[in-house]
Amino acid sequence: MGMGMARAPPPSLPLHHYLLLLLLHLLLLLPIFSLAQKRTYIIRVDRESKPSVFPTHLHWYSSTLSSVVQLTQQNLLLQSASFSSSPIIHTYESIFHGFSARMFPKTAEALEMVPGVVSVIPEQIRELHTTRSPGFLGLKSSDTSRLLAVSDFGSDLVIGVLDTGIYPERRSFSDAGLGPVPDKWKGECVSGNRFDPAVACNRKLIGAKFFCAGYEVSSGKMNETAEVRSPRDTDGHGTHIASIAAGRYVYPASTLGYARGVASGMAPKARLSAYKVCWAAGCFDSDILAAFDAALADGVDVISLSVGGVVVPYYLDAIAIGAFAASEAGIFVSASAGNGGPGGLTVTNVAPWVTTVGAGSMDRDFPANVKLGNGVIVPGVSVYGGPMFPVGKFFKLVYAGVEGGGDGYSSSLCLEGSLDPNVVKNTIVLCDRGINSRELKGEVVKKAGGIGMILANGVFDGEGLVADCHVLPATSVGASAGDIIRRYIESASSSSTRSPSPSDKEATATIVFHGTRLGVQPAPVVASFSSRGPNPQSPEILKPDVIAPGLNILAAWPNTIGPAGIASDTRRTEFNILSGTSMACPHVSGLAALLRASHPGWSPAAIRSALMTTAYTEDNRNTTMLDETTGNVSAGVMDFGAGHVNPPKAIHPGLIYDITTTDYINFLCNLNYTQKNIRAITRRTTDCSGARRAGHVGNLNYPSFSAVFTQDGDHDQSTHFIRTVTNVGGPEVVYKAEVVSPEGTSVEVEPKWLPFRRFGQKLNFLVRVKVVKNSGNRLEAGASSVKSGTLTWSDGKHIVRSPIVVTMQAPFS
Ligand SMILES: *[C@@H]1O[C@H](CO)[C@@H](O)[C@H](O)[C@H]1NC(C)=O
Ligand SMILES: *[C@@H]1O[C@H](CO)[C@@H](O)[C@H](O)[C@H]1NC(C)=O
Ligand SMILES: *[C@@H]1O[C@H](CO)[C@@H](O)[C@H](O)[C@H]1NC(C)=O
Ligand SMILES: *[C@@H]1O[C@H](CO)[C@@H](O)[C@H](O)[C@H]1NC(C)=O
Repeated sequence: MGMGMARAPPPSLPLHHYLLLLLLHLLLLLPIFSLAQKRTYIIRVDRESKPSVFPTHLHWYSSTLSSVVQLTQQNLLLQSASFSSSPIIHTYESIFHGFSARMFPKTAEALEMVPGVVSVIPEQIRELHTTRSPGFLGLKSSDTSRLLAVSDFGSDLVIGVLDTGIYPERRSFSDAGLGPVPDKWKGECVSGNRFDPAVACNRKLIGAKFFCAGYEVSSGKMNETAEVRSPRDTDGHGTHIASIAAGRYVYPASTLGYARGVASGMAPKARLSAYKVCWAAGCFDSDILAAFDAALADGVDVISLSVGGVVVPYYLDAIAIGAFAASEAGIFVSASAGNGGPGGLTVTNVAPWVTTVGAGSMDRDFPANVKLGNGVIVPGVSVYGGPMFPVGKFFKLVYAGVEGGGDGYSSSLCLEGSLDPNVVKNTIVLCDRGINSRELKGEVVKKAGGIGMILANGVFDGEGLVADCHVLPATSVGASAGDIIRRYIESASSSSTRSPSPSDKEATATIVFHGTRLGVQPAPVVASFSSRGPNPQSPEILKPDVIAPGLNILAAWPNTIGPAGIASDTRRTEFNILSGTSMACPHVSGLAALLRASHPGWSPAAIRSALMTTAYTEDNRNTTMLDETTGNVSAGVMDFGAGHVNPPKAIHPGLIYDITTTDYINFLCNLNYTQKNIRAITRRTTDCSGARRAGHVGNLNYPSFSAVFTQDGDHDQSTHFIRTVTNVGGPEVVYKAEVVSPEGTSVEVEPKWLPFRRFGQKLNFLVRVKVVKNSGNRLEAGASSVKSGTLTWSDGKHIVRSPIVVTMQAPFS
């Protein structure tokens, strides 16, 4: 299409021919051979630049691009093939104007210089944020906001879940008692393999679409035995996520008898729309953007995204760009922080217009302790649900890494084929975490004839434990417990070589499953795997924003996959228990829908502000939340951001830190991004001079304060933050500031009183942070130090709390 015109130009050359001529010149300069591989790019264009000869943007894109591709292929003598009729993978209209296409890097470079092309972004492939190693997922059950759920609250709201699709035949997605589909809804359920919209969709699941063109153009045609070309979820992750955000009340609910009780999502009356963007090889940016585009046009209120990838500048980050357009349209976007913890600088999805969610535990766990032959009891957790070991009977215990023979490393990890059945048969096997998924290790042990498994954390995993539905009796233990067990096995085997009757001295153990334990203290703790700050893109914006439950979460699960998520697992459960920031994110998505329902006028930033300023940082023993990594050290703002979300309080925050699109643009100016880079995100030409004069990156009206200094001897260091708060509490209220300065700094707030005369009024204040010299705040060479404090506004009724974090970077040497 459009090609005819390219070959027979009309007398007055339209713009695109100049573009093509320009390209031709550029491409002729390219080296004859290029070893670079084709990849997918996302091309954003200036809508106004479309030459009028093209009836639609698609005609324009196709024409320009196929000509460019032809030229590229002729000149580079590279293989043609992969394009059939059109090289365009997706076109985008709602989030921005543009398209995605597969091409050589040189073509992309050339395209970038064409007038009318705003940006050319290489595609990233994202993964699901569950703790299942090669990328499968989890869920949760929610016990909050029962109050809100009894009314018809939130039933006009639609949550869009971008994930692995949906398994609709679950009670969690029943539409019993729900009113008609909201009038504003423009979305639909598409039909596809094993997905009949007339049966699958109802007044609860009101939308279902799938996007696989980007996946298939990169990975080849999908294997339709293993995957389904439709919105149907064959993985489980998307089903789990959707039911965490908005699953109905289901009673009784449990996984293999664990976590028995009522299951419900955060916003049980909200509607769901599933956008399947994740496939066997991952979640491709071009497909994710197509889903953003559709969700915007369909009319969702909240987008929930439990996937992530490498952190890149915002103008190169397709998720950040899609989320910007969504937030501008008033859509709240929540995203998982990632499971890269407990190391620092690991947080992902960090754009300030996205709400970034880390994971914490709940006051419920599933103890399954190891009892060693020497009487020592080592704590573990498990949701294994099959037959238990006979009480009081001990079994031979082997450490795969020592006794498995052959390659000690791969056998200690219980990789496929690494265990010697002669050694493992009828024993409990100690395996180390890493490489293959935790559930697969269970299968490896079972196949080799083992009757039980103890899965030990490595040093990196620390003491963080996740309970899994293993295919044999198995439990997970922390790193120090792993050491205790290994030492025991070692001492037993060395004494047995000396002993005349080795069988008396061999290492033995059993696992005692205690089911579900409630009222656990302390809780919440920050999950060991939850990704941590500082924000690698803009340390002046504290990320993650908040944490929410993400450890051992019960939620809906397909009937076509066992709870272990592996093919050999033939068990079927309506619910599954999973862990990950993937599971934390939809809690916040559901909560955002409830907040939007109670405050229809609130912007996405206002909703986040309410969540952040009411979050708590203390656990159920009234001490600062702990970090699960050690189990005995307090977590901090880089771990939990503003804290753990507190739904009942978030409904009545008192004050709001709101942010407009203009504020975000000023933020981008203050990051010193070029005009072109800013335009790639905002779709606007921007004059940054005013914004740059007005301040700095940290002046974005964010509900947290992050000051970044470099340690450099003598001169005074200070910075200030300007903020505006909006009164959403009573008509006439006076707020007073209370500050806890971070260690080694003094923090002043001006003014200290904010007298509001009316509802909706905005007032400004300034926060000045000064480093106090000689405060004993010494740094070790090469180390950065992070100290935190708080600013709290209170009118006696509402408590509006913000973290203040000061990072003292070691000087660059
Ligand atoms: C497709 O998937 C099925 C089931 O997982 C597998 O048995 C088969 O070998 C796969 N086919 C190809 C061509 O990879
Ligand atoms: C924590 O503090 C609250 C309020 O001060 C109190 O009601 C509660 O009993 C305390 N809990 C514990 C475990 O000390
Ligand atoms: C925390 O526990 C570990 C062992 O589990 C111990 O080595 C460490 O000293 C403890 N730290 C604190 C601060 O108590
Ligand atoms: C932007 O440039 C100004 C002036 O050169 C500089 O002071 C400021 O630190 C820069 N900001 C960032 C975020 O790089």
